[in-house]
Amino acid sequence: MSRTLFALCVLALVAHSQAALSFGQCPTVKHTVENFELQTYLGEWEQLETTSQMWHFGGNCPLANYTLEKSGKVHVKNSITVFGKEVVQEGYAELVGEPGEARLNVVYDVPIFGHHNASYIVLDTDYGNFSVVYSCASIGPLMKAEFGYILKRKHNLPPWVKERIEAAVAKSGLSRNTFKKNC
Ligand SMILES: *[C@@H]1O[C@H](CO)[C@@H](O)[C@H](O)[C@H]1NC(C)=O
Ligand SMILES: *[C@@H]1O[C@H](CO)[C@@H](O)[C@H](O)[C@H]1NC(C)=O
Ligand SMILES: *[C@@H]1O[C@H](CO)[C@@H](O)[C@H](O)[C@H]1NC(C)=O
Repeated sequence: MSRTLFALCVLALVAHSQAALSFGQCPTVKHTVENFELQTYLGEWEQLETTSQMWHFGGNCPLANYTLEKSGKVHVKNSITVFGKEVVQEGYAELVGEPGEARLNVVYDVPIFGHHNASYIVLDTDYGNFSVVYSCASIGPLMKAEFGYILKRKHNLPPWVKERIEAAVAKSGLSRNTFKKNC
């Protein structure tokens, strides 16, 4: 598929998902959580709030599941249950930052479109309760699509995390009101 057609398709996809589209390159510097422990971060997360509506068509909570592959890559599985059927998006992620930085590159296999790369930057997490993630994908040479995710583990959150979440969202540079509650 030609690059232009690919870019248009991705554009349509993200426009539909109401991602924050803008001109310019994805930022390479975003302050991540310090001394990131990938092992502790793995496992299941619920997508409490996202700026992406792509996974919001069942009314229930989208899940993210991060597991370590033998290759050392992180297997990424996003899923949502629609009318009792699991719809899945899979890919893999790799640490790409300096040691201790929570900076990853995620590659999704998108049917027809091929690969779709995005950054995955953990702005803040306590590993056991919450995580705030900033993600950005280049669209052609000129544009970018930015996403935000507020993830939670599968239990009720203690009240103190609210403040940490709001601080991290503020650091993301994304507008707070672009986040929509998923569960
Ligand atoms: C997450 O992955 C683990 C390990 O493969 C698996 O046991 C678990 O069922 C998965 N959870 C979901 C929601 O897919
Ligand atoms: C996507 O990520 C893969 C794996 O990190 C890398 O080899 C490839 O060059 C990336 N492609 C783009 C267009 O950034
Ligand atoms: C969630 O936060 C509480 C502190 O409010 C902490 O005690 C607990 O260990 C955290 N949960 C997990 C699973 O780490």
